[in-house]
Amino acid sequence: MKQRLVIGNWKMNGSLADNTLWAANFRHQLKSCALTGVEIGICPPFPYLSSMRPMLPSSIRLGAQDVSSECIGAFTGEVSINMLKELQCHYVIVGHSERRARMRETDATIAKKFKLVSLAGLTPVLCVGETQQERQQGETESVIIRQIQAVIDACGAGSLRGGVIAYEPVWAIGTGVSAELGDIRTTHALIREQLSANGLGPDDVALLYGGSLKPGNSEEIFSLPNVDGGLIGGASLKAGEFLDICLAARGTPHNRVTDIAQKYDN
Ligand code: PGA
Repeated sequence: MKQRLVIGNWKMNGSLADNTLWAANFRHQLKSCALTGVEIGICPPFPYLSSMRPMLPSSIRLGAQDVSSECIGAFTGEVSINMLKELQCHYVIVGHSERRARMRETDATIAKKFKLVSLAGLTPVLCVGETQQERQQGETESVIIRQIQAVIDACGAGSLRGGVIAYEPVWAIGTGVSAELGDIRTTHALIREQLSANGLGPDDVALLYGGSLKPGNSEEIFSLPNVDGGLIGGASLKAGEFLDICLAARGTPHNRVTDIAQKYDN
């Protein structure tokens, strides 16, 4: 079995004090368990990238939640791919549904960002997913295919090799209700088919599920075919919960750390 991948997306949460506590808790709890066989990434907000690096175990990779579609120049407030590279980011999330909806990011902009990340040698994490309305209208398949095809058309299928796609149904994000196992299975199979039709095998692209993933549902979700790991929002803010999800991704029975972690956790 290939190595699973778990990435925490902190969104606009945290502070210097909170992050320091999170890192201390994570390291402390990590002492009681072996985290081999799972790759872990953390995506804090931009301002905390450099302070987080030395606080994390070296095996944990840093990621950014977004990147500018431009490389340099008069783009106030933007953060370039070269800056992220300098800050030792390994992953860069592109096309998160919150940016698609709130910042009106189009498939074309997202494809441009994806291309910059992949040309810079960092690992893009392309988020795709349907809204509740699209789901009710039976458009899930066409939306997912369109969002992935936009990247293939703009960057070439080869640019996805070594990359990550996260299927995140918009209606499952931050709601506490994850997608049904059957729906995750069906959509991940659909993505695999689309990738395979473009010459990409199962080991070429990691497929993550995201949307209310938590310690209570992670084992069953990770056991589904074509699920290589998870993109975790809310549950990644608690070091103990995040670690439990990472342990579930390892694929072997484990002692839950959440309970013993309560007294340490923020
Ligand atoms: P959630 O967020 O785990 O809080 O649902 C997932 C995400 O937005 O990546």
